[in-house]
Amino acid sequence: MSDTLQAKPAILVARSVFEPVLDKLRVHFDVQATPTGVVWSEAQLIEQLQGKVGVLTAGGDRIGPAVLAACPQLRIAANLAVGYNNFDLDAMSAAGVLATNAPDVLTETTADFGMALLLATARRLTESEHFLRAGRWKEWSLDFFVGAEVHGSTLGILGMGRIGQAIARRAAHGFGMPVVYHNRSRLDADTEAACRARYVSKAELLAQADHLMLVLPYSAANHHAIAATELAQMKPTATLVNIARGGIVDENALVDALKAGRLAAAGIDVFEGEPQVNPALLTVPNVVLTPHIASATVPTRLAMATLAADNLIAYLTEGRAITPLNPQVIGR
Ligand code: DGY
Repeated sequence: MSDTLQAKPAILVARSVFEPVLDKLRVHFDVQATPTGVVWSEAQLIEQLQGKVGVLTAGGDRIGPAVLAACPQLRIAANLAVGYNNFDLDAMSAAGVLATNAPDVLTETTADFGMALLLATARRLTESEHFLRAGRWKEWSLDFFVGAEVHGSTLGILGMGRIGQAIARRAAHGFGMPVVYHNRSRLDADTEAACRARYVSKAELLAQADHLMLVLPYSAANHHAIAATELAQMKPTATLVNIARGGIVDENALVDALKAGRLAAAGIDVFEGEPQVNPALLTVPNVVLTPHIASATVPTRLAMATLAADNLIAYLTEGRAITPLNPQVIGR
């Protein structure tokens, strides 16, 4: 091995990523890749990270006090997801470890999926497909798998960041849906006009939505933002779609509401204990369940991993970052 190769800083790519992304990283780093299907436990991650100055993580790879204490040489963790609730940002900042995420590159793809999941849920797509596949289709009738109207019905969006806005544009312009939203802060008038979206209180949102789409980031404050109390404020004919994070919805309360007919249907792409799925959810017919795939297209997943790789390269070779979450650690 040449001196140059030996001098390359070592990094861990904690999830399998596309080969071109590894090739890009290998130009600059001694890269330890993770095989497809492997998910490191915290203890394993600590072991893998020994001697590494950088790590490329996915949303399930937790970088918190335990990892930081055991890996003092770590300088950057680059998440290939836009959500970063797997990072303890305060602890990372205190330890001088840069955190980056992958915003923007998945916005439109994720918004497409939000609409797909809404349509599938409201129009009972998977429920009717399972019925057909089970050989139970004997005749057609007028009330056969009747669902909820999507076009022209009111879409409520909780969390009006980039993805929420992209969903609003699709719903308002493509499906003629009146859009109401609630967010920590109200959008400026131009953005509201572009989205054709009207700001309302959370209580008004819950009461008015024919379909409620959750797109807010997960934080301790948002834990179970939709629980029994909120579900009780929704229309019994409403559809709930969660493409944000599992912990935002109290899944047991959701199952109760669905079973009791206090909510028509739910589309869920993210789960509290994922990849484990609350078994109660599997017993309810009027849910569409998908395994956290809202951003899953080849170009978008490639773009997400590439942005994470670019953050690693920029920081470890030039001391800058493209999408830093705690920029105050740069140059410390
Ligand atoms: C994200 O980017 O946060 C998506 O949920 C994929 O993890």
